[in-house]
Amino acid sequence: MDRLKYTLDEEEIPKAWYNIQADLKTPLDPPLNPATKEPIGPEALSRIFPMELIKQEVSRERWIPIPEEVRDVYRLWRPTPLYRARRFEELLKTPARIYYKWEGVSPPGSHKANTAVAQAYYNMKEGVKRLATETGAGQWGSALAFGTMLFGLKCTIYMVRVSYEQKPYRRIMMETWGAECIPSPSTRTEYGRRVLKEDPNCPGSLGIAISEAIEDAATHEDTKYSLGSVLNHVLLHQTVVGLEAKKQMEIAGDYPDVVIGCVGGGSNFSGLAFPFIADKLSGAKLDLRAISCEPKACPTLTKGVYTYDFGDTARMTPLLKMYTLGHSFVPPPIHAGGLRYHGDAPLLCKLTHDGYMEAAAYHQNEVFEAGRLFAKAEGFVVAPETTHAIKAVVDEALRCRETGEEKVILFNNSGHGHFDLGSWDSFLRGKLIDYEYPEELVREALAKLPMGGA
Ligand SMILES: Cc1ncc(COP(=O)(O)O)c(C=O)c1O
Repeated sequence: MDRLKYTLDEEEIPKAWYNIQADLKTPLDPPLNPATKEPIGPEALSRIFPMELIKQEVSRERWIPIPEEVRDVYRLWRPTPLYRARRFEELLKTPARIYYKWEGVSPPGSHKANTAVAQAYYNMKEGVKRLATETGAGQWGSALAFGTMLFGLKCTIYMVRVSYEQKPYRRIMMETWGAECIPSPSTRTEYGRRVLKEDPNCPGSLGIAISEAIEDAATHEDTKYSLGSVLNHVLLHQTVVGLEAKKQMEIAGDYPDVVIGCVGGGSNFSGLAFPFIADKLSGAKLDLRAISCEPKACPTLTKGVYTYDFGDTARMTPLLKMYTLGHSFVPPPIHAGGLRYHGDAPLLCKLTHDGYMEAAAYHQNEVFEAGRLFAKAEGFVVAPETTHAIKAVVDEALRCRETGEEKVILFNNSGHGHFDLGSWDSFLRGKLIDYEYPEELVREALAKLPMGGA
């Protein structure tokens, strides 16, 4: 029988994460102190992050061991299955072979648990009592609520207001795991109060919620901050996805021509892609393509500028070199809440800038349509974020139908959409708005870049 699923045993959960910094041709540009524009040292980050994660952030070691306690928790849902999407191939009448790594099987429902568990563990080891964080769609907040619960930490989550209102069930899930969930902008922080004063109806953004969570951590001795994407250590933790997928593709007897993923901050796609891009960097697989998929309403990689910018809206973070739409850009309230971020991971941005990765942008109706086709063929109703990746898969598969090429396509199916059915409902009833690329808003935001455009 033709196989549909490639599964691994528990003991095959990777024992080390893959750090792509070891293999970059030129080092990553360092984070800068916004006041001096000089590289910041690890001490500058120690107020809000535990030392072990700061070390991982700057490490050039190729392999970083995964603590046994973290592997033990991973066993709850890892290794995740790799699927051959045979029914989807049939529906699309494509000669392409489509594979997907299914991360929706984690208790919170997405890849985010891979780093949440690791971050909660390292904070617990260093005596931290509470973590503060932001969440867009609620996936990251749920993941951190889950991770902190397992290691006995408290958790405060600032949830982007538009998602908080669209997705009440995510809040209930976070609260079930013992976390506190607050709509952002909120009156809890100095910064939140300032934003609300200017715009009482502000829908919020990841940038604003990050500022609130950082302020919370920076003003409480027993509390640290936790970020669900963007930073090097987060991408590092996500490489369990790609490392497992590589083994599974080997069992399937295939190697991807194209790797695809949606990009909000860049963690799920980097997690899948980096272990394969290692082969491109080494020269073994020069033709490998890696496509980041983002919303046209928040087109960071396709329309942004590659330069230094703040990671948050309140200008509290160090400056990071990345593609950015400007830290003051508030994206339109699209349903893929987890993709509404003005910047992207510096590692993913560098690899894009250096030509190892590429990017594409889509409107929300077309991505939901691709997600609906996928659900009809494979059954899984995925998260709105993930449908962006599926749209690129459909386009690639249809190109193969025209050319007759039997390309191997691998994508990260980053999460399920069970808490996003309100968004699916809006799509099915024709109520989704396709926001045009907000050129004016982006231009305004880019004018406020701390070091100008590159
Ligand atoms: C299911 C899912 N996929 C993807 C993303 C995008 O984040 P990242 O680019 O860090 O993977 C999110 C963010 O919330 C998400 O919930």
